[in-house]
Amino acid sequence: PPTKKSRLSKGVNMYACQNCTPLHHFNSRLTDALEILEQHAFFRLDQNAESRALAFRRGSATLKACPHKITSVDSLKNLPYIDTSNSSKAGHCKKVITEILEEGFSDEVEDIVNSDFYKTMKLFCGIWGVGPSTAKKWFDSGHRHLNDIKNLKLNKDQTVGLEYYEDLNTPVSKDEALCVSEIVKTVCMEIKKDLLVTLVGGFRRGKPAGHDVDLLISHPTQGEEKHVLPKVMEKLKDNFLYTDKKMSSGTTHPQYTGKSSTMDQFEKCFSIFKLDLPKSTKNGNEKPWKAIRVDLIVVPTDQYPFALLGWTGTKHFEREIRRYTKTEKKVVLTSHGMYTTDTKQSIEAKTEEEIFKKLDLEFRPPSERCC
Ligand code: GTP
Ligand code: MN
Ligand code: MN
Repeated sequence: PPTKKSRLSKGVNMYACQNCTPLHHFNSRLTDALEILEQHAFFRLDQNAESRALAFRRGSATLKACPHKITSVDSLKNLPYIDTSNSSKAGHCKKVITEILEEGFSDEVEDIVNSDFYKTMKLFCGIWGVGPSTAKKWFDSGHRHLNDIKNLKLNKDQTVGLEYYEDLNTPVSKDEALCVSEIVKTVCMEIKKDLLVTLVGGFRRGKPAGHDVDLLISHPTQGEEKHVLPKVMEKLKDNFLYTDKKMSSGTTHPQYTGKSSTMDQFEKCFSIFKLDLPKSTKNGNEKPWKAIRVDLIVVPTDQYPFALLGWTGTKHFEREIRRYTKTEKKVVLTSHGMYTTDTKQSIEAKTEEEIFKKLDLEFRPPSERCC
């Protein structure tokens, strides 16, 4: 029989990309608390904000991958990023989990959720185009409500973000995402019949709702995807409330693109789509459409599996597979491709499965990447 130790730590590995992390797991009461701490650390923007935030996310990812409900402090034994003797950050995760297991709640988490700072930062960061540094600047100037910032100097994204605040903070349903996807597919077919439109992001992982719709546009013949985006945008101009097109820098080879961030070099468009609502859902004086954030990303076919992997998420899964790849395999992985760090040799792959295989990783379908 397995020893107690091996049984307790069974199945949860160091890198989240090695674990099976389903959408529905057993420990959401605990992971919700850790993710509030993660977000709070991120809002504070102090010296170690990022690494503190990451420590909470790693703890949360471990609990999401646990194949059972954690009910006692004993069963935290040997869990990565929670029960490690030499890390004060893991200690912080463990302390909060222990409080919740023993008291039913954590004072620290309750205080954060009820704080003016956290509530206001959440409110302001809910505006498209506003990140923690802008939100904090406003908070520090004494602003607390959306009305307070209407007359401040805002950039274009923020102006429309505020204008459509309510819609953009109402979750996008799977049906709405499929509707948008069909509309984009239809215009793509009119442009070139073999254009491929793929729903990625949270919906590809099986989420029933999300904050936006992420669509990859590609063509089975290399090069045929060029010049497609302006045509799509022209055909859809009446469906868009706002578009922000990003040009491709041209240097898409992984060797020459940004090493660290999740930013990629694809030609893309961050937009706000005006989706007409079916008659039955309209009532009286409500407007007959909903503003929805849509990302369109144009991907050459040779980079498609890497873009698919890179845009399926979660953000943490992407961060972890890149960390695993770099640390354990000495390979740099991006949404464009992968190459060895020493010889700069490019490693080809035709499918997501092949990428995992070449990295000696067990394949995780999108539904198991919900870390
Ligand atoms: P919801 O939209 O809230 O349902 O979650 P999501 O997982 O779909 O998040 P999001 O739409 O923000 O991003 C989807 C995936 O694309 C995530 O893995 C991100 O890391 C990735 N992503 C988002 N923006 C960019 C970007 O500008 N460049 C690259 N390469 N990846 C991005
Ligand atoms: Mn998304
Ligand atoms: Mn997105």
